[in-house]
Amino acid sequence: MTRKILVTSALPYANGAIHLGHLVEYIQTDIWTRFQKMRGHECWYVCADDTHGTPIMLRAEKEGISPEQLIARVHAEHSRDFAGFHVAFDNYHTTHSDETRHYSEDIYGKLKAAGLIEVRAIEQFYDPVKAMFLPDRFIKGECPKCGTRDQYGDACESCGAAYAPTELKNPYSAVSGAKPELRSSDHYFFKLSDPRCQEFLRRATRAVCENQPEAINKLQEWLGEPGENKLTDWDISRDAPYFGFEIPGDNGQSTGKYFYVWLDAPIGYMGSFKNLCKKKGLDFDAFWGKGSTAELYHFIGKDILYFHALFWPAELEHAGYRIPTSVFAHGFLTVDGAKMSKSRGTFITAESYLVQGLNPEWLRYYFAAKLNGSMEDIDLNLDDFVSRVNSDLVGKYINIASRAAGFVAKRFDGKLDTRHLNETFRAELPGLVDAGEEIAAHYEARDYARALRRVMALADQINQYVDKHQPWTLAKQEGQGAKLQEVCSLLINAFRILTIYLKPVLPKLARRAEEFLNVAPLHWRDAAHLLPPAHLINPYEHLMQRIDPKQVDALVAANRESLAPTVAVVPAPTSAQAPSPQRHAQHQQATEDKTQGQAEPKAQHISIDDFAKVDLRIARIADARHVEGADKLIQLTLDLGTETRNVFAGIKSAYDPAQLVGRLTVMVANLAPRKMKFGMSEGMVLAASDADGKSPGIYLLSPDSGAQPGMRVK
Ligand code: MSP
Ligand code: ZN
Repeated sequence: MTRKILVTSALPYANGAIHLGHLVEYIQTDIWTRFQKMRGHECWYVCADDTHGTPIMLRAEKEGISPEQLIARVHAEHSRDFAGFHVAFDNYHTTHSDETRHYSEDIYGKLKAAGLIEVRAIEQFYDPVKAMFLPDRFIKGECPKCGTRDQYGDACESCGAAYAPTELKNPYSAVSGAKPELRSSDHYFFKLSDPRCQEFLRRATRAVCENQPEAINKLQEWLGEPGENKLTDWDISRDAPYFGFEIPGDNGQSTGKYFYVWLDAPIGYMGSFKNLCKKKGLDFDAFWGKGSTAELYHFIGKDILYFHALFWPAELEHAGYRIPTSVFAHGFLTVDGAKMSKSRGTFITAESYLVQGLNPEWLRYYFAAKLNGSMEDIDLNLDDFVSRVNSDLVGKYINIASRAAGFVAKRFDGKLDTRHLNETFRAELPGLVDAGEEIAAHYEARDYARALRRVMALADQINQYVDKHQPWTLAKQEGQGAKLQEVCSLLINAFRILTIYLKPVLPKLARRAEEFLNVAPLHWRDAAHLLPPAHLINPYEHLMQRIDPKQVDALVAANRESLAPTVAVVPAPTSAQAPSPQRHAQHQQATEDKTQGQAEPKAQHISIDDFAKVDLRIARIADARHVEGADKLIQLTLDLGTETRNVFAGIKSAYDPAQLVGRLTVMVANLAPRKMKFGMSEGMVLAASDADGKSPGIYLLSPDSGAQPGMRVK
């Protein structure tokens, strides 16, 4: 029976580069959809950029371009990166589209008609300088628990406390630095506390997370016991200025309010699919209409389960659409056992992986070998990556073709002889054909790790056959031509079957293997038969290189953060009410973590008087030491001739303290001292680095010889 299946991956935000963490999801989904297509099902894979919200609006402003320009550029970058990793969407759209606007208004209108939208005033922090309400992440201040400065409005990075932004001490706007004011404004709420929603979610969402015990536990926790009403109404509106869709008012009146980005983001799945329907003449309602028999799956990271397993089904249900068949949640990527880190060079962008010349199918294979359909985090262990790809993928699988192909070309003009194979094949390689359904079941269950273990066990069996029959020995013996041809023909057929089993993971390699095998694109069912008796194959060209560990070292070096002005060299003023440009820069660097890899905007002009305010001095590094517990900092004692200063500089990734002692550099001598976790920082040293953090280096400035500590730099 042909299934109708619609599959999505989460929509990546349109203000940051795709990195290897994202790829866990897109590669995983791509493997699954390719598998379904190979099985002969009607399967569509859609995605889009998630383009709305305050961070995107502010980022565009910072770059001096319109949000539309920003999202167009990022759309092109994302499309390029996904194509580079062979992620083959049937449609890659944008949420800033007519289709998504249409369904957002439609769903909102239906929820409103059902009495599930309520308007009420709430108090929120407002930035009087920037004239905007501030999302929690854009409010900073001192942690109400431990007093650490410069903490975000939702949680403290130092002590881990969670709180409301209104609890911060000395709060300031991370956008303008201004002291925020509490202001009241009308917001629109989706009434999740309504008994209809509660009843529906209790009844339906378990099924949506079927076979995912961790997800079901989470839902249970969020929903509470029957009778408990733990879900609160969901605020789906934002005030202007906002980049998004305006909420329609009654009779075409303007509300001046916008849909919160998370309202229209999942609707972007529908928007992208609707756009595909127009291109392909598909029936939208057959997939999204109530009572649709099509299957609908959302692949997502565990961080966004709440939105997909609660809000989204509730919206769909009460707006008269079908709900997802399942939400497939996965864990987060770690690299060498730790969170991806810019200072360690393990925050690796998709682009840099490709630019450094690594083969995307190595990563596809490695991720697949680790993915088992659960919500556990998955670790990219770089040594294991090299050895697994080299020993399994190249050493076991590719090797089969390369061991047989030469003889077939040289001795038999590329001609196979499979006349007697039907009998020997099953006898020599039991299970190779029959394993197909078992492997398919593992793919279906998203347990790619098991599927690949099974495939590699089959490859082992085939390699044992090679060792037993030793084609290279047969080739030297008189009168063994027919035997040699049969052994090699068996191997080529075995290689072809493994290629089918690996094709969802390795689409490009499979295409090249198909050329070599001289066959039409392989489907799953093709594993059930052998090549025709006198089939001709093409000359073999090596299908895949081994990974040289040096390539991985170079990749990490290329992604190592070059300058960390955040912790490093930028002391903030002591008063939270009077934030400096440095503080602002510091904030921007912090948001950079979500939006890495973009070009730095050009600075605006300043006057000579502005420049003169900066007191730059020659300093001699009198002492330099490691700071215990800090992974970026070196503590410097700077001699200014008449006084010494203590400065914490974020240069540890590039310098050994011992190298620094005695040398001259340039410091900013009139920065207000700043209390840091490790002590007072009384200035900053100047260093050069690549703006986007891609170059491995941080380069401390040095004066020409002759300069003396304390000299002014102008
Ligand atoms: N825009 C939202 C999703 C809206 S879906 C209607 C978003 N975007 S994201 O760019 O932050 O993340 C996109 C997907 O990538 C999410 O499913 C997220 O969980 C996943 N990942 C992002 N970083 C990841 C890792 N480090 N590891 C694994 N998956 C990760 O969330
Ligand atoms: Zn704290």
